[in-house]
Amino acid sequence: MSLLVRNIGELVTNESGPGRETGPLGILRDAAVLVDGGRVAWVGKTADSPDADEAWDAAGQCVIPGFVDSHSHLVFGGDRADEFAARMAGRRYEAGGIRSTVAATRAALDDVLRARLAGFVAELHGQGTTTFEVKTGYGLTVDDEARLARLAAEVTDEVTFLGAHVVPEEYADDAEGYVDLVCGPMLEACAPHARWVDAFCERGAFTAEQSRRVLEAGAARGLGVRVHGNQLGPGEGVRLAVELGAASVDHCTYLDDEDVALLAASDTVCTLLPGVEFSTRQPFPDARRLLDAGVAVTLASDCNPGSSFTSSMAFCIAVAVREMGMTPAEAVWAATAGGARALRRGDAGRVGVGARADLVLLRAPSHVHLAYRPGVPLVERVWVRGQPV
Ligand code: NIG
Ligand code: FE
Repeated sequence: MSLLVRNIGELVTNESGPGRETGPLGILRDAAVLVDGGRVAWVGKTADSPDADEAWDAAGQCVIPGFVDSHSHLVFGGDRADEFAARMAGRRYEAGGIRSTVAATRAALDDVLRARLAGFVAELHGQGTTTFEVKTGYGLTVDDEARLARLAAEVTDEVTFLGAHVVPEEYADDAEGYVDLVCGPMLEACAPHARWVDAFCERGAFTAEQSRRVLEAGAARGLGVRVHGNQLGPGEGVRLAVELGAASVDHCTYLDDEDVALLAASDTVCTLLPGVEFSTRQPFPDARRLLDAGVAVTLASDCNPGSSFTSSMAFCIAVAVREMGMTPAEAVWAATAGGARALRRGDAGRVGVGARADLVLLRAPSHVHLAYRPGVPLVERVWVRGQPV
């Protein structure tokens, strides 16, 4: 069954082409999109539309490509609302809080985690996110990490093995022994379910050398590299990510000029996570400085129970525009095409022939409203691979 979404007042394509306005979003006005077999089959003016089995009238509103959330930690047990409340009363965020979610996750049955995950997927779809990455990292034993990777793979192709999230309690005196486990049996058990490997390169988590061992072992096993870096202070995460040709280095809250120059000259995307600074009361990263230096900047939710328990990409856009110096157009690009680049997916984050038919119809005439109307649910209808969800 083919579907024509017609009468779109503002279509964000993220592509250049005939009739597209200049600027990162490749906006086409009075547009229509033909969907067939889960892919975009045609894009043009409503007046020139081909016939289709079904039609949907967008009533002059805005359509954007589905959000691509390239960073989340959605398989976990429990929550940390008490930790959040304590933080808002003045306590500092520390990597060690991860261990309490590890305990709750190990104690949770598969079906409990599966139901939780299904709830998050519905939450993501309802807010316009149509492609999302999910990390392991709250199991930290061979069996628990493999279990989380398997569960994540039930809902996404973008699974990331994050055995190097934090050193678990039982290895507190033997971090090197834990890294051996991660690089050996844990990687073996998780790799069949994963596309990516990640490491939390930070004070209180893993050193650059330990992170390098994990990332190189993952790459040798065929996984793409991603890095958590420069979140809680200056560090070596960005340098390591660029050196290893990582697809993305995420957080990047504390960068020196050398980090920025290295990123600008690399293929490594810089993924900013505004929900983290919002929820931990840390200073926001300076997206403007990165964009002006020519760095590819992406936005993601980092949805997790500790540092950022939001799954809303629209919220991330609003905060990035208000607090991080991005224009609405840059932020919408970063949350769609940018996310696709961070996941090295050429067929997501854009509305062009051959791309996945992941479309979001907004209850708003333009993409600017995503930042202009913070907290307002503007998603009217979502199609994932051409199917309404
Ligand atoms: O991306 N930085 C490391 N991991 C998560 C936090 C996880 C947690 O606090 O549970 C993050 O912020
Ligand atoms: Fe994270």
